[in-house]
Amino acid sequence: MTTENTNLTKLIELANHYPSPHNGQPIELRQLSAGGYELCFETKRGLQAAEVSYLFSYVTMGVFITHLEFCAAALGYDISCSLALPPVSALKGDGSIRFATCQIIASEQAGNSALLDTLRFRQTSRKKYFEGVDDELSDKMISLAAAKNLELVKMDRAGTHQAIWLNQRAVFDDMFDDAVREELNHWLRYSKQEKETKKDGLAYDCMELSGRAMKFIVKHYKILRMPGVSRLLQQYYLRTMSDNSDAYYLLTPFSNEQEAYEVGVAVMQLWEAVADKRYYLHPFGTIMSNQAAHDDFLKLAHIEHEDIHKNFLVFIFRCGKSEKPHTSLRIPVEEHLLRSERV
Ligand SMILES: Cc1cc2nc3c(=O)[nH]c(=O)nc-3n(C[C@H](O)[C@H](O)[C@H](O)COP(=O)(O)O)c2cc1C
Repeated sequence: MTTENTNLTKLIELANHYPSPHNGQPIELRQLSAGGYELCFETKRGLQAAEVSYLFSYVTMGVFITHLEFCAAALGYDISCSLALPPVSALKGDGSIRFATCQIIASEQAGNSALLDTLRFRQTSRKKYFEGVDDELSDKMISLAAAKNLELVKMDRAGTHQAIWLNQRAVFDDMFDDAVREELNHWLRYSKQEKETKKDGLAYDCMELSGRAMKFIVKHYKILRMPGVSRLLQQYYLRTMSDNSDAYYLLTPFSNEQEAYEVGVAVMQLWEAVADKRYYLHPFGTIMSNQAAHDDFLKLAHIEHEDIHKNFLVFIFRCGKSEKPHTSLRIPVEEHLLRSERV
């Protein structure tokens, strides 16, 4: 193997750590030439239970390409990507759907070791946050979003606590939706052995929950509405979330594939800025996909005229400093991200 190839392998391995909903890892690369790749979205690894999840697949595409660009800059590569976003209808079928091509070549510039450290640090933290976001980082995040015509809003302490509570309610309510519960069950990894064998999905330790308790609740979800028990389970779920984190929400047009893709670009840029200062974040995706929670959040944030062409609520997260979270595993590059033969 040439040195060039060895370095490209390093780049693809780093890129494999991109974040994706439920850690479904839906992206696949097909090599077309030296440094030339086709980027595809494997529909069965995307979320499909809620209608809005299809548009969120384009958010994941934006996250992936932006993360790949950061990886290239960190390791001293130039990269150019051409988007060819498929229509939403294509994501409703089966298969690996092409959404872009990209060309990666060794750069004249050296890599960026600080950026490399940042990408290695980035994780989702569902732990208790002992510190909120300082003003300097907060201002940077808000300007980063504004530069892309997105409005990022920091919530006050009371609003943050209500957002955390709303997220918990939405997670519990979603268990009563058969399609959403089955999808979650498909991606939850209940034991160390299951986590290490499958190397994808939402592992119990990353969720800060006991695998046995998770399995029991998914099977007997109706106990979530039993008086007394439900209170105890709420307290258990919220024990890592009543903390000093700060919640943020993002408003932007979200009416088509390209707009959804741009949200992914912004989300990854924000996540990089957060990790650069050694903060973590925790997305509250359930508030976006659960209609009742989405509507209640609009009231909570006093957003009176949500408009899909102007100011749609697309991303909510809490952010701050916490202990290092458990590591969410990835399927090895050669078995999935860069698999030359389809099975
Ligand atoms: C678009 C998007 C939405 C996400 N939504 C949620 C969410 O609703 N709840 C959650 O706990 N994590 C959410 N995540 C975090 C993923 O579950 C996480 O990135 C994945 O499990 C990999 O873990 P890592 O970020 O620690 O590498 C989301 C990530 C992305 C990119």
